Amino acid sequence: MGDARLLRVALAVTDAEFGGAALADLVTDLLDTMQAANGAGIAAPQIGVDRRVVIFGGGGRNPRYPDAPEIAFTVLCNPWLEPLGDERVAGWEGCLSVPGLRGEVPRFARLRYGGRDAQGVPFERVVDGFHARVVQHECDHLDGVLYPRRIEDMTRFGFTELVLPAVSA
Ligand code: NI
Repeated sequence: MGDARLLRVALAVTDAEFGGAALADLVTDLLDTMQAANGAGIAAPQIGVDRRVVIFGGGGRNPRYPDAPEIAFTVLCNPWLEPLGDERVAGWEGCLSVPGLRGEVPRFARLRYGGRDAQGVPFERVVDGFHARVVQHECDHLDGVLYPRRIEDMTRFGFTELVLPAVSA
């Protein structure tokens, strides 16, 4: 947070880039970074790459989110999101770009999302709960939005060690 590259609206992956080595290398870099930090997901702008690519899930249970259900490893390029209903739920989020902090963020409870995988194959899913939250958080990164901007009650924002002592970051 504070790096201008996190505030850009990222560029779409082009048809020529799908299935290519550069995109495969980007996914590898994202995966290495996410795993090293025990992240639930990560977006290309977080490693300084101006592309609409996010990855999330995989690796079983996440020690940073021990109560969260498992999500299959997903590479999502040029995503779109469609909320299903108006219901929003508040939940605690952290971010690899905002180290040491957690905040309570309202997100749509249920949504349809889709995009393309690294080969350019389109897919879509209907999800809710933690999966829906992760997708919304990661896709926000592609539009230059970090979760603190989504916090509505700033008393629910603070350092991880004080807010959630059972979770160490
Ligand atoms: Ni993040």
